[in-house]
Amino acid sequence: MPDASVAAGKLLAVSDLHVSFQENREIVANLRPESADDWLLVAGDAGDISGDIEWALGTLRERFGTVVWCPGNHELWTHPADPVQLRGEQRYQHLVGICRSLGVLTPEDPYPVWDGAGGPAIVAPLFLLYDYTFLPPGAATKDEAMAMAAGSGVMCTDERLLHPDPYPSREAWCQARIGATVRRLEALDPAMPTILMNHFPLIRDPTRNLRHPVFAQWCGTEQSAAWHLRFRAGAVVYGHLHMPRTTWHDGVRFEEVSLGYPGEWQRRPGLRYAPRQILPLCCRRRLPLREMRADPLPP
Ligand SMILES: [Fe+2]
Ligand SMILES: [Fe+2]
Repeated sequence: MPDASVAAGKLLAVSDLHVSFQENREIVANLRPESADDWLLVAGDAGDISGDIEWALGTLRERFGTVVWCPGNHELWTHPADPVQLRGEQRYQHLVGICRSLGVLTPEDPYPVWDGAGGPAIVAPLFLLYDYTFLPPGAATKDEAMAMAAGSGVMCTDERLLHPDPYPSREAWCQARIGATVRRLEALDPAMPTILMNHFPLIRDPTRNLRHPVFAQWCGTEQSAAWHLRFRAGAVVYGHLHMPRTTWHDGVRFEEVSLGYPGEWQRRPGLRYAPRQILPLCCRRRLPLREMRADPLPP
């Protein structure tokens, strides 16, 4: 018998919806909750252009009881086709303003508590960025890693479009985000578990299956390597890698929930994209990382 005192909804998660692609836009247009009590976590890369991001989050907010967003690198681009030409922190704050007008929660809001089935748990949307410390094999420094990337032709578009203003570098912006986020997480009730949500993986392991290992430097920071333990994560939700999967690290569930580009998801035969259920926990086979297939394209 289900516990009638617990809300019927589910805590669900998506990421990397990339709605500038018409095929992806159609998927988002058809995403619907099972229940009005369902919450949806949107873990970044909803789109590149501010109007597209607003459309995606607004469409989802009309349907789901609560929507929680954190930015991906694509949202932080100052794309030449975007009428909004704000850069860095100003662009991020502009997007936070859009979310507030839509009723979408962001990393700048008090962390909500999921009280439904599988809860209670504090849902913490994070914006940590990256600091080039996920060095690819063969590189001992950022300069070496960047030289490897340049030599192999795998250069992240962030280098041209993701401006760190007013910080002097993306690493400095990342460091400021980490400092502010740690203070908030440390102040949480230590008796409460968390659901940590960040566009980039909090740990290095998931990047080891990238088709282009040199791309790892744009995928996270070593400084968050133990956060799933330190901050009592019941689950960690992320995207960015476009390698949807469930893995377990130190007994903690990590959910990569990307849709990805049409050229990627169309190669996943028989799998219709749907939001991943985070809570209540449903039965899943535990897949060791080595069994998992690397997807063909970098994010
Ligand atoms: Fe993405
Ligand atoms: Fe991304």
